[in-house]
Formats: sequence, C-alpha cells, structure tokens
Amino acid sequence: MTLHELTSNAAKYGALSAPDGHIHVEWSVTENNQVVLRWTESGGPHVEPPSREGFGTQLMKAMISGQLQGRLAFDWRPEGLACEIVVRTC
Ligand SMILES: Nc1ncnc2c1ncn2[C@@H]1O[C@H](COP(=O)(O)OP(=O)(O)OP(=O)(O)O)[C@@H](O)[C@H]1O
Ligand SMILES: [Mg+2]
Repeated sequence: MTLHELTSNAAKYGALSAPDGHIHVEWSVTENNQVVLRWTESGGPHVEPPSREGFGTQLMKAMISGQLQGRLAFDWRPEGLACEIVVRTC
C-alpha cells in the first residue's frame, strides 16, 4: 500500500507527471535484518516541501512507523522526492 501511495503521488505531483520523469527504486536487507528501501524521483516538476499532509501520508506513517515500527523519511529535494523506508524483517 505504501508503494502504491508513493506511485500515485508520483503520478499526481512528481516524476511520473512528466514525460521524462524517472523513479529509481532499490532495496536491500542489512545484516541486522532490516529492509532498507530507497525511492528516488527525478525528471519531474520542481519540488517544494508540501504545506499539507494528506490521507496518503498519514496512511504511510501509520503503516511504516506505527504497525511495522519502522522509519519513513521524506527528502523534498527540488529535483524530486527521495524517500527512505526502513523496516525489520522479523
Ligand atoms: N512525489 C511527490 N512529488 C512532489 N510533491 C509530492 C509528492 N508526493 C506528495 N507530494 C506533496 O505532498 C502532499 C501530501 O501528499 P499526500 O499523499 O499526503 O496527499 P495527497 O496525495 O494530496 O492526497 P491523498 O493521498 O489523501 O489522496 C501532496 O499534496 C503534494 O503537494
Ligand atoms: Mg497521496
């Protein structure tokens, strides 16, 4: 659901709203059983930190930080949103 929300947001506001936009997604599992997922948008419109938090952001925070007790960080870079998600595998 979190990836769906990030994708939906990219289509509405970010890299997927522009013909030349790209999203780089990479993930790895660390030695201490954490999944680290990095989502990096580029080639879309100029980005500024949002002034409002919608339902999608609240949902992602509730799932990653609340339910999975992980971490979710947004970096509102002018050239595109970068998001890092860290959750434990067990
Ligand atoms: N990939 C992105 N690039 C640029 N701005 C973004 C991106 N994702 C989100 N935003 C900004 O952050 C705001 C909050 O996003 P959020 O997903 O919480 O709300 P929403 O998508 O507007 O509404 P909802 O998710 O409830 O349908 C958005 O309104 C938008 O201004
Ligand atoms: Mg949204």
